[in-house]
Amino acid sequence: AGVKGTTTERTFIAVKPDGVQRGLVGEVISRFERRGYKLVGLKLLVPSKALVEQHYGDLKGRPFFNGLVDYMSNGKAPVVGMVWQGKDVIRQGRKLLGATNPLDSEPGTLRADYCTAVGRNCFHGSDSHEAATTEISLWFGEKAVFDWKQALEPWIA
Ligand code: TYD
Repeated sequence: AGVKGTTTERTFIAVKPDGVQRGLVGEVISRFERRGYKLVGLKLLVPSKALVEQHYGDLKGRPFFNGLVDYMSNGKAPVVGMVWQGKDVIRQGRKLLGATNPLDSEPGTLRADYCTAVGRNCFHGSDSHEAATTEISLWFGEKAVFDWKQALEPWIA
């Protein structure tokens, strides 16, 4: 997912079905845009069970796994997947989202502002460079990601 520690670093951010249902897509985009990050991938989809199972493969066997897969893939609302690019975007993206359990999220983060339940925490963000690479290829594939020239770059680089 780009080169870690440079302006080409990339992360996979998703608005989960509950976040889409609650109209939070624009809010997520706004917060990443205003920080100066570059949107290089965007799609709306109902992911298959297989895709979600792969995405959350490391959680297989956890008691909440089946419920998590169903909630992500049952089609009651779609997922909006995004790829964001910029310096330290993986770590900063997780900070903008807040802690996994919204009750532990710092005020001002997206999850603290909009959520109270870990099982309905509205958003996803890659937690490492390795995860970002895997998740971007799983949800997008390299061809669906478009690196364009951001006029802001000279001011934020
Ligand atoms: P995890 O990968 O641990 O966190 P994060 O999304 O911050 O990378 O967990 C994935 C998702 O699984 C999490 O966003 C919500 C769900 N989940 C639960 O429903 N219950 C739980 O106890 C945990 C730890 C996660």
